[in-house]
Amino acid sequence: MNAGSGRQSFPGISSDRNRDMKKEKDKKKPWGGRFTGALSGTAERISASVHFDARLWRQDIRGSMAHAKMLARIGILSERELADILAGLADIGREIEQGAFRFSDSLEDVHMNIESALTERIGDAGRKLHTARSRNDQVALDMRLYIRDEAAGVRGLLAALVGTLTDLAEKNIDLIMPGYTHLQIAQPVRFSHHMLAYAWGLLRDMERLDAAVRACGQMPLGAGALAGLNYPVDREFVREELGFDGIVPNSMDAVSDRDFMLDFLHFASVCGVRLSRFCEELVLWSSAEFGFIRLGDSVTTGSSIMPQKRNPDIAELIRGKSGRLVGDLVALLTVLKGLPMTYNRDLQEDKERLFDAVDTIRLALSGMIEMLSTMELRGDAMKNAVYGNFSTATDIADYLARKGVPFRKSHEIVGRIVRSCEERGTDFFSLTAEDLREFSPDFGDDIAEMLDPERSVDRKASVGSTSRKEVLGQIERIRRILT
Ligand code: ARG
Repeated sequence: MNAGSGRQSFPGISSDRNRDMKKEKDKKKPWGGRFTGALSGTAERISASVHFDARLWRQDIRGSMAHAKMLARIGILSERELADILAGLADIGREIEQGAFRFSDSLEDVHMNIESALTERIGDAGRKLHTARSRNDQVALDMRLYIRDEAAGVRGLLAALVGTLTDLAEKNIDLIMPGYTHLQIAQPVRFSHHMLAYAWGLLRDMERLDAAVRACGQMPLGAGALAGLNYPVDREFVREELGFDGIVPNSMDAVSDRDFMLDFLHFASVCGVRLSRFCEELVLWSSAEFGFIRLGDSVTTGSSIMPQKRNPDIAELIRGKSGRLVGDLVALLTVLKGLPMTYNRDLQEDKERLFDAVDTIRLALSGMIEMLSTMELRGDAMKNAVYGNFSTATDIADYLARKGVPFRKSHEIVGRIVRSCEERGTDFFSLTAEDLREFSPDFGDDIAEMLDPERSVDRKASVGSTSRKEVLGQIERIRRILT
């Protein structure tokens, strides 16, 4: 019943929710004292989140353990009770890990499932665990812990992708290709320069991810439901225990804030959109018209009707999945918009968006690494494209400018040369210095090398350009950042 997007399934969550609902109707809600009637089946289905938030079990148990230790420190739990709680929670964790734990929909969420299982096992000590805590600060804690945990894996994938691009750049340092603006051939560039353009963007994504993790650095537990607690809780102890940098200073902010999630979703959207643009290029490059690359068999599919087809489905799907990431961000922004202080149940809708973004960005990054590390480069096709399409026109204009012709004039002269070549259906290479002098007397015999795209890339003299020296410099810098 992985409703929505959760890819990870949880042991013990049945695929038949309705049947579960009936069987578990009698599971007692913790607020039972206040009510005589039960929640309707529909309401229970709207309310339940355990089928997706069970994913938070590790963080929930870790948070509860820290909370219990704190309660013992301030004398609310005896040492015996603390020991029972810690052992009980560890037990539950092991069971969940092994797939032997049964989550119940009627207990709504992961928090109540774990607490109720604990009480079933250890009795009244379990009933004391929720002293000085609300699910509002509990869930705010779990989500922060979850992002911090997941970010490490995502960061590793980002680094691996940047590493893949850097390797590709190094291995193909002298491969040239057309550089485009408006998808029209503009100037010759190194293939490696093009790859590193993405690498730098991904390194910025990594900074955005790190910023999102920093936004999870303040510990919310101790806020209670919203106003703080009637107990002298030791928030500093819990902070230290869970490795946070600080404590959320305002209890109302602690339970209502989801900025840290928006930050992660923003990271994932920006990164996803970048991968989407990259995929668009892979799709174009693998077409017959470009023919710059051949994607590996492991990331292409055939057609059920057209035997000759090799479709770049994985690139297309990563491009398509970026829509989910943008959607996840917009969905949470929309949930938050209009919510008054402090906790509102709408906030439960944050989880599937975040989980989906975590799964999607991980999958997209892994797919990119696989596509890039298995693709074949078709250097000849790149070379043909760059030689046949006047890609060195700017170099020729600059040549004349260096001879003293005002740039606007040299631009015009080269424009006329291109037009005349086009009319005759040829390219620059059909022209001798003699021919060129008909357009301008300033062309010397040294013009031949200006026509050559391979020479063009190394004529670039500016910092950050596509010259061999500059690109090698980038590779070195990126490698240093990665270590
Ligand atoms: N499952 C809830 C959520 O994700 C936990 C907090 C519930 N709090 C409450 N007051 N009903 O938001």
